[in-house]
Amino acid sequence: MCGIIGYIGHRPAVPIVLEGLEHLEYRGYDSAGLGYVFNQDLKIIRSSGKLNNLKEKVINEGSSLTVMTAIGHTRWATHGAPEERNAHPHMSNDKRLALVHNGIIENYLELKKDLLSLGYSFKSDTDTEVLVNLISECCHSEPDLLHALAKALRMAKGAFAICLMDREAPNVLYAARNQAPLIFGQGVGENFIASDVPAFLNYTRDVVFLEDGQILVAQSGDHKILRLNDLQSVSCETQRIQWSMQAAQKGGYRHFMLKEIFEQPNVITDGLTGRLENNDQINLPELERILIPKRLHIVACGTSYHAGLWGEHLLEHWAHIPVQTEIASEFRYKEELLLDPNEDVVLVISQSGETADTLAALRRAKEAKVKTIGLCNVVGSSIAREADCVLYTQAGPEISVASTKAMTSQMLMLTCMALYYARRNKSMSLGLRQSTLGQLRSLAQFLSQELPQMHTMAKALSRKYAQAKSFFYLGRGYCFPLALEGALKLKELSYIHAEGYAAGEMKHGPIALIDPTFPTFVLAPAESEMYAKIKSNMVEIQARQGQVIALTNPGTDLAADDRWEIPFLPGPLMAFLILPCLQLFSYEVSDYLGKDVDQPRNLAKSVTVE
Ligand code: AGP
Repeated sequence: MCGIIGYIGHRPAVPIVLEGLEHLEYRGYDSAGLGYVFNQDLKIIRSSGKLNNLKEKVINEGSSLTVMTAIGHTRWATHGAPEERNAHPHMSNDKRLALVHNGIIENYLELKKDLLSLGYSFKSDTDTEVLVNLISECCHSEPDLLHALAKALRMAKGAFAICLMDREAPNVLYAARNQAPLIFGQGVGENFIASDVPAFLNYTRDVVFLEDGQILVAQSGDHKILRLNDLQSVSCETQRIQWSMQAAQKGGYRHFMLKEIFEQPNVITDGLTGRLENNDQINLPELERILIPKRLHIVACGTSYHAGLWGEHLLEHWAHIPVQTEIASEFRYKEELLLDPNEDVVLVISQSGETADTLAALRRAKEAKVKTIGLCNVVGSSIAREADCVLYTQAGPEISVASTKAMTSQMLMLTCMALYYARRNKSMSLGLRQSTLGQLRSLAQFLSQELPQMHTMAKALSRKYAQAKSFFYLGRGYCFPLALEGALKLKELSYIHAEGYAAGEMKHGPIALIDPTFPTFVLAPAESEMYAKIKSNMVEIQARQGQVIALTNPGTDLAADDRWEIPFLPGPLMAFLILPCLQLFSYEVSDYLGKDVDQPRNLAKSVTVE
């Protein structure tokens, strides 16, 4: 996620903006920039890479130390390479306006086309440069910049949090938000605008969390908050932040992992942005360039492998594409790949886009001349650059080593791929496709409502089972990959031994391990045609005094030691409710045992070595 900061007040603005950007670094970024007005000229300084690169450029600009208004930005690339030309702020063609932006303007290509026809030119690939020139164009028909800004924002579709500077009025900052966070920090004789509290917490704790559809007009000693649609003033409550700086970077959550678990509804919303068209179709232009696979090979590591294993079910069931999901460290050393460039496609999944085994597997596939797709979260990462085409999960940076929201974003993209290929293969009934798209549209809201009670239940169960020495996680069908993931989460976070198993395999040996000290987590959604089978597996375990936590839906008849009921979703999308439960259970066990939740021992966020 990008970071925005704006300052207007009685102090040198540039050092404050740079300091604010430093406090937003935890959000992850790949370029940065700032802007201010000096001698009636708009000055933009930007750099790719880390803030030190920007600071070096700023130092050479002596002018910057006297200005008392400035805006700054750290960019997490969602589209458009992480290069200086795509860094913010972006300036309007007439060099009057400078804009920083967080979010995705879904209709920016249409708006860009209209502006091009009016003679505008663009130096970057970003939606932000389109937006700042749209505001500039609206200045020709509106009485003032405020009305022009409001008109442009009403024309933009999608998520935005923006801060705007005007060369002609350097003592005013404009800000607005829709579906992206933006906070107003009220100082004495100075005001702040930022994506998150840490940016200005050293200067003020009095904040207003702006709401969707609000515009802020800020001067050093005054401000007003207006409604975007009619520019009527609104009164907003000022809140006092009690958090420490570090707590603020976690948004008030105890750990980044918990914050990222609770970000998953936003990840679903952001992942669908620009992909779920109004005419009920999934839009994946990235895949238009390569053949529809006759056979798809999914290759990944760890949690990403589990996401791929889950996606296999949808791609086979909905798109009728035979899928083979493999662990990258195995795939890369196979004697023979037996791939046919005219039929096979290899999909590599990697949050970081830098995992050595997955990157090596991608290169092996390319040596075999088959087309490759990368499913990544980090724009411009090695896998993203080397795959023949890349799908970005747009999940924002994942700070915690244990992968949570990344898996949800990967599963979402695999769902989109399955629906996309099903349409092209004409292999899915209209009814099923429509009902699935309907579920996708409401999924984020649904999950957001359920997460708090999931967390409550996870905390209660964690206290009961935290002393276990070993755990089984069992699932069938699309729940088998989730069982693997649940076990991985418990292992890597709490250091408790856990095994994920296909439930049907229990009688082939593992059940010998069951005793009263070896609990089992059974994934038992109501609708799965495997429900009766998983129920009998559970009975077999209980017959040997094994304790069972059954993650199931209301109304099922499982007599488990602990029933964990979550709402029902038809079909494999139930996974989007099951996964957070497994994440929260492991999180709470780890926290209860006093482990280092965000940085578990021996683990790295990206395994860039073999
Ligand atoms: C998951 O919690 C782990 N951090 C790990 O298994 C991770 O998923 C794996 O290393 C793959 O990483 P990638 O998605 O960045 O390739």
